[in-house]
Amino acid sequence: MQTFDCIAKRASIREYESRPIEKKLLEKLVDAGRRAPTARAVEPWEFVVIQERRTLKKLGEIATSGSFVKDAACCIVIFCKETKYYLEDGCAATENILLCAADLGLGACWIAGDKKPYVDEVSKLLGGGEDLKLISLISLGWPKEEVKQRKNRSLQDVIHWEKF
Ligand SMILES: Cc1cc2nc3c(=O)[nH]c(=O)nc-3n(C[C@H](O)[C@H](O)[C@H](O)COP(=O)(O)O)c2cc1C
Repeated sequence: MQTFDCIAKRASIREYESRPIEKKLLEKLVDAGRRAPTARAVEPWEFVVIQERRTLKKLGEIATSGSFVKDAACCIVIFCKETKYYLEDGCAATENILLCAADLGLGACWIAGDKKPYVDEVSKLLGGGEDLKLISLISLGWPKEEVKQRKNRSLQDVIHWEKF
């Protein structure tokens, strides 16, 4: 798929079929994440790939804004070492994975990590060290719901040539 088409096609999907995602595809998603731009080329990220139903259920209970992860085929949890630009780097990796998922026909949704009250509990559940910041959880699965793009603000509304 052309890059722009993939960007235009992506939408948050929160309902999934029960069938699993092949390991090769999960590796491809993480491969996309690790290729994101990263300030000072630090690459502070770590990706935890979770498929065990018990852990997915627990994550859904802890990360309340992403309770639907309990029924996902997989969740990729992104942590970053606490560097100056950890959040930007982690978000860039998150978006790479979302776009790669859209390209593969997978449904995915960004679940907030950083700033949420459940960061410590998620880290503890997954055994992450204290030096690691939770950036995001990405729920993944073959989409059950129809992919519907939100109504974006128009190009004319957001574009400013030279100045406001
Ligand atoms: C930083 C960030 C955090 C988000 N956290 C959540 C979340 O916790 N739960 C959720 O259901 N969606 C979450 N989303 C997805 C947004 O709700 C979604 O992107 C928005 O509604 C626009 O819809 P779209 O992705 O289909 O274009 C998050 C998105 C971003 C960028």
